[in-house]
Amino acid sequence: MADLSGTVALVTGASRGMGAAIARRLARDGADIALTYSASPEKAEGVGREIEALGRRALVLQADSADPAAASGAVDRTAAEFGRLDILVANAGVQRDVHFVDMTLADWSTVIAINLTGQFLCCREAVRAMSRQGVTEGVSKAAGKIICMSSVHEVIPWGGHVNYASSKGGIQMMMKSLAQEVAPHRIRVNSIAPGAIRTPINKAAWDSPEALKTLLELVPYGRIGESEDIGRAAVWLASDDSDYVVGTTLFVDGGMTLYPGFADNG
Ligand code: BGC
Repeated sequence: MADLSGTVALVTGASRGMGAAIARRLARDGADIALTYSASPEKAEGVGREIEALGRRALVLQADSADPAAASGAVDRTAAEFGRLDILVANAGVQRDVHFVDMTLADWSTVIAINLTGQFLCCREAVRAMSRQGVTEGVSKAAGKIICMSSVHEVIPWGGHVNYASSKGGIQMMMKSLAQEVAPHRIRVNSIAPGAIRTPINKAAWDSPEALKTLLELVPYGRIGESEDIGRAAVWLASDDSDYVVGTTLFVDGGMTLYPGFADNG
């Protein structure tokens, strides 16, 4: 177990899937949790109750992640309610899959707004709060830890998903540039790049035996990922166990980025 006791984390998009698993895991290891949701209050409240059952404080906030006021509001409310902010997991994201020739400006803009601009806004508010706060002896060696949720598609091109892959490619460079800029303030910024994780966003890729078989051809490790795989990675990046890790993308993908098609060919 990592020691996150005395810390406060904000996880966006945490009513389900990876965000919920990350929130639970950070709480299990000692953090109080603020979590945002955009459309599922009951599910988010349920995650909040699970966190409280672990003996931690939970704050459930509605926030449209593309709305600047909501992003800064969630950071401000977390700091106001819990007195500090140590960890941001900028997780909220969507897919709007459509072939490029048919992609509307709205398909493009919505995905960029939520996935990339939404992360920018949350990160900016978190950097402001963490810089003001500075390092707190006995809590963490860093003034703050920011985890951007990326994807294997920050490096794997994805036809039919140009908007999504572009947003994740953008996150890669936003994260690295931001990490470089704020490391002197003792704020560590990193990303997690999940591969195929069993969540609602990619249900069609795993909910039939045929789909799963096709998917697993892309995964050398031979299994689909679970949200808890991402929760474990997040808790490591959020704790002092990774104190010298700055500006890195941690791929948690069962080897999906290893060009599996080249295993016995090429
Ligand atoms: C996407 C999933 C997809 C996975 C691997 C993720 O970023 O959200 O839909 O299954 O990448 O391709």
